[in-house]
Amino acid sequence: MTQATPPFNARLAPFGESIFSTMSRLAVEHNAVNLGQGFPDFEPPAFVQDAATRAVSGGFSQYSRAFGLPKTTHAIARYAEQSIGFAADPDTEVTVTAGCTEAIAAVLLGILNAGDEVVILDPSYDSYAACIAMAGGVARRVRLEGPAFRITHELLRGAFSSKTRAIIFNSPHNPTGRMFDEGECAVVAGLAREFDCLVLSDEVYDEITFARPHTSIARLAGMRERTVILGSLGKTFSCTGWKIGWAIAPAGITRAIRCAHQFLTFCAPTPFQKAAADALDSVCTDRSYLHELRRDYTTRRARMLGILTGIGFECVPPEGSYFILANAQAAGWPDDVTAAKVLVKAGVATIPASAFFDPANPDRRWLRFAFCKQEATMALAQQRLNALPLHEFAKLTN
Ligand SMILES: Cc1ncc(COP(=O)(O)O)c(C=O)c1O
Repeated sequence: MTQATPPFNARLAPFGESIFSTMSRLAVEHNAVNLGQGFPDFEPPAFVQDAATRAVSGGFSQYSRAFGLPKTTHAIARYAEQSIGFAADPDTEVTVTAGCTEAIAAVLLGILNAGDEVVILDPSYDSYAACIAMAGGVARRVRLEGPAFRITHELLRGAFSSKTRAIIFNSPHNPTGRMFDEGECAVVAGLAREFDCLVLSDEVYDEITFARPHTSIARLAGMRERTVILGSLGKTFSCTGWKIGWAIAPAGITRAIRCAHQFLTFCAPTPFQKAAADALDSVCTDRSYLHELRRDYTTRRARMLGILTGIGFECVPPEGSYFILANAQAAGWPDDVTAAKVLVKAGVATIPASAFFDPANPDRRWLRFAFCKQEATMALAQQRLNALPLHEFAKLTN
């Protein structure tokens, strides 16, 4: 019997199985401490967990309105107004999605036509390029040079043309930890205005900042009407598995986003939408949880930087997010993937940051370490990393 050729969408062929899946498998195989995937290994705060428990047993178990429970769209609008000073209409400008991942997909599927171009930074969160491809668009990548990873007009200008429909801008940035400064935001905003395109502003790490408080590019002149703010409950409230995210955009763009969203998931999980509303309302009333979050992450960041520099890694100290890039080549490895495979065998899982770069980009220097981890996890990682000096680790490559 001949076997049917398994069908595969050609647009997705370049993406295949990601290094994330490989690293997760190796992490389990070697019982490694997981500093790879970016999820907290601690529980959400009690007031957020309690809100979910109440919602699950309190009449929120059926579909909600497709674009979100009224209470949730209102809470998101209130939070956006308080945190970034952005006033949005909860009924016409906010869409609740199954995590920010779905928001990214819904926006791109909602706005792109075949051949439309979307500018993305290289490196960037891996779902951007895949979603652009799924939507029939074309990603135009702009390489940022580490360790500074700075945006300049010269770098960005060449990627824009009459075909450009949007740029995806992410600050604080995964994986580099950059918070793009005023001048860099002005470059992005200026090009978006000049080429009359949208900015998809991924702000999921808005509350995990070290350099200065987060500000949204949507606040710059002429940007409100062309910015889609993308957010997530998961990072701020340590509940990445709840998959609650959102897109805030002017009504016309929101109609396109909602059109795609209704056929992707129809609605985000209702009990977690209700819990999200309670969590956001609570920090709008009293911001002390957010201050504690920042203080805790400042401690975790210092601890992880201490561990990594202590064993000889050159690191990029993050301005925001919960990731640190460490230079594997400077430590003696040929590239990041080799380094990650050796380290996972030694019991520490990381993510080779080339997963966030265009495969054509030759930069293979960076390993990404996540520090959204408990002290015990970091201490165990330190013990394992300290077992051998870094240059000895590098020798294991051969
Ligand atoms: C930059 C960025 N955007 C979006 C997401 C996805 O967020 P969510 O878990 O809400 O889907 C992540 C998750 O790691 C991220 O790092």
